[in-house]
Amino acid sequence: MPVHVVNHPVITHKMNTLRDLNTGTQEFRSVVSEMTLLLAYEATRDLPVRPCQVETPLMAMESKTLTGGDFIITPILRAGLGMVQGMLSIFPNAKVAHIGMKRDEETALPATYYYNFPKAPPNPSEESTVIVVDPMLATAGSLCAALTLVKGDHPGTIKAICLIAAPEGKARVEKEHPDVDVYVGALDERLNEKSFILPGLGDAGDRMFGTV
Ligand code: PRP
Repeated sequence: MPVHVVNHPVITHKMNTLRDLNTGTQEFRSVVSEMTLLLAYEATRDLPVRPCQVETPLMAMESKTLTGGDFIITPILRAGLGMVQGMLSIFPNAKVAHIGMKRDEETALPATYYYNFPKAPPNPSEESTVIVVDPMLATAGSLCAALTLVKGDHPGTIKAICLIAAPEGKARVEKEHPDVDVYVGALDERLNEKSFILPGLGDAGDRMFGTV
């Protein structure tokens, strides 16, 4: 199943804070970052490793280390920006691509207004991993369009992390991008008539940037 719902008591607990209408901008940002870090551990569980040797103060030992392919963190603007710091805290050397998308308030269709993906040097390779981040997977229009763009530039592994999803978005991304693993912290009930996730957490971008 390409959409993985990460059931973990800490994630559910922190999600309550994001859902709560009384949570202010500063706390919202900080919890988004913490949740991203927790979901990133799950999303990177299958990263390739190679054997290595480590000298402890007492003896040498065989261990495993990451093979060291590039990471390209790719936030969908605006709200995805709030997840970049959490990702960089695990992968401090990652590159950061940007995809600007705005969902039309009437039609819920995404329009791309900015796209910047690292090309050189080194070129994106099959060893590198792209992780697209966006707090909300509602209709999945934005994520599906972003994945199509990234696939045009990146031959390697592509994953995505979203904090909260609707069943409609889950079904769509599984249909359109069955090759992409998407990790979500909660799967909610449904979309409302304006394509907002219910019960949801409101508009992540507005709550994160104080633009409500
Ligand atoms: C929201 C959200 C996602 C998108 C999800 O962004 O952050 O990017 O909508 O909806 P979808 O799954 O139906 O495409 P929005 O376009 O409101 O922009 P913002 O991040 O600037 O608030």
